[in-house]
Amino acid sequence: MSVETRIKRVTAPELASRKGAMPVVALTAYTAPMAAVVDVHADLILVGDSLGMVIHGLPSTVGVTMEMMILHGQAVVRGSRRAMVVVDMPFGSYEESPQQAFRNAARIMGETGCGAVKLEGGSRMAPTVRFLTERGIPVMGHVGLLPQTTHTLGGFKTQGRDPASWPQHIQDAADVAQAGAFAIVVEGVVEPLADRITEAVPVPTIGIGASARCDGQILVLDDMLGLSDRVPRFVRRFADLGAQADQAIVAYAAAVRERSFPGDENVYR
Ligand code: KIV
Repeated sequence: MSVETRIKRVTAPELASRKGAMPVVALTAYTAPMAAVVDVHADLILVGDSLGMVIHGLPSTVGVTMEMMILHGQAVVRGSRRAMVVVDMPFGSYEESPQQAFRNAARIMGETGCGAVKLEGGSRMAPTVRFLTERGIPVMGHVGLLPQTTHTLGGFKTQGRDPASWPQHIQDAADVAQAGAFAIVVEGVVEPLADRITEAVPVPTIGIGASARCDGQILVLDDMLGLSDRVPRFVRRFADLGAQADQAIVAYAAAVRERSFPGDENVYR
């Protein structure tokens, strides 16, 4: 009889219990092979709608569709075994009503097998977060800089530079937590505001361009690997894979032109 070792995925309640404890390691991934690499080390893999820019060359996340999110969500779930996979709800798929959000979130969960969805917005989205969580859909919130509202914001701008705006940002996070979100991404806010939000909410905050004192951190994988041309100023590059890929392709092109490729070792016999 074969012994099957089943690896249990990280769950939403497990992540929620990490408040103030061991920081949550989160990264984005969009494909099965990269998900397999990230899975070994991360607690949470986000299939972010950043895939619109990173994978599909779109100017913003606004043009990302449900079909794109589902296709990449399926790939990431197939490529991973342990980390919790969270799939972003794309622009236009949840803002209209809690019912619209439920229909699309249920489709994402059902067709990808992911463990949760993420949606952007604070107090105004809290009723929708509650509607989903009460019906069995774990939700990760996202407050601060909301990339899907880039057109109304007039670009990607750090939030909370004026302390007068802090109470509303803190209320946004508190309302989303109160509505049942198991964790909240805090993006692009000044450091003391991120700290205040982390102190104010009972669930883990996952920072990006926020503060080292958040309960976890997330980065766009391609940005931290050095594969993106333009990255936000706060991103630390942990590798320079873009330059390595360039060198490899230069070597390949030279080998082809010198007819030293395929070498003997690359010929089917
Ligand atoms: O889409 C995304 O990758 C995100 C992260 C930046 C948090 O939402």
